Amino acid sequence: MSVGKEMPRVIAISSGKGGVGKTFFSVHLADFAAAQGQRVLLLDADLGLANVDVMLGISAKGSILEMVRGEKSLADLIVRANNRFDVLPGGSGLYELTTLDATQQQVMLDQMRSVSSQYDLVLIDAAAGIGDNVLYFVSASESALVVLTPDPTSLTDAYALIKVLSRQRGVHRFMVLVNHAEAFDAQVTFQRLLSVADRYLDVHLDFVGCLPHSADVRSTIQKQSLLQEQDAPLTKQALDEVLGSILSRPRDQGRSGGLQFFWEHSLEEGMNMDVDAEETSSAR
Ligand SMILES: Nc1ncnc2c1ncn2[C@@H]1O[C@H](COP(=O)(O)OP(=O)(O)OP(=O)(O)O)[C@@H](O)[C@H]1O
Ligand SMILES: [Mg+2]
Repeated sequence: MSVGKEMPRVIAISSGKGGVGKTFFSVHLADFAAAQGQRVLLLDADLGLANVDVMLGISAKGSILEMVRGEKSLADLIVRANNRFDVLPGGSGLYELTTLDATQQQVMLDQMRSVSSQYDLVLIDAAAGIGDNVLYFVSASESALVVLTPDPTSLTDAYALIKVLSRQRGVHRFMVLVNHAEAFDAQVTFQRLLSVADRYLDVHLDFVGCLPHSADVRSTIQKQSLLQEQDAPLTKQALDEVLGSILSRPRDQGRSGGLQFFWEHSLEEGMNMDVDAEETSSAR
């Protein structure tokens, strides 16, 4: 599905607590959209250990600094995954963006301008938590997807992330996905988050679905491959339902500035955050 000159949709996948399935959903969402005919770029904005390149068995081809020095183009850094979608691996040094000077930023933006028109969907696999870089990437995106589990600490950390993004970064709409949960538990978890968010924050939370804990997921990750229909039909069906539900959400017209907007916003935005734990505990 090509959208011509329209800017790509940009979705950031984030979480309060780590290890909840962000990278798992990011790579599968990328593949799912690509299978629908969308041109997809997945940015690995997390420099932690078990990330996109590891999950897909790919490796980085250079760094963003090489690009701003003119030694490589952005296109040189992009790696094709599963023969279907593109990845800009974390090893490419996305964090170095914050240290670029004005000339380097201009090079970066020019490159992004030419690359952005080639995609319909850009996914950003953000790091866990409320670090500056997470806030950067999520607030510059068109849509924010927050992944959590029924674990109380995951719930309070998701609340803390939503709180900081809404109060300090002007992000007021969130898609919420509950992982490691059957439908009932997922609803209970979502309702807990919703009730405290409704009480204290000016946000709109949109439940997009859940995925039960499954041994199929673990074995898939160990094989550095994507979950296949023939290996685990039920899990694949449940996963595809969530992914379809995310993509069926209408675009946020107020924030649909595409990739170019994303980079400009990321580079211009100041870094300033101060979180207090006040209501965070009431999410428990
Ligand atoms: N529904 C599930 N059932 C079973 N295992 C799962 C499920 N979802 C994710 N996992 C497992 O949890 C592990 C962590 O997932 P993943 O790496 O996607 O989390 P993450 O949020 O990206 O972590 P980090 O914060 O470290 O980047 C993976 O190895 C994966 O096997
Ligand atoms: Mg991850």
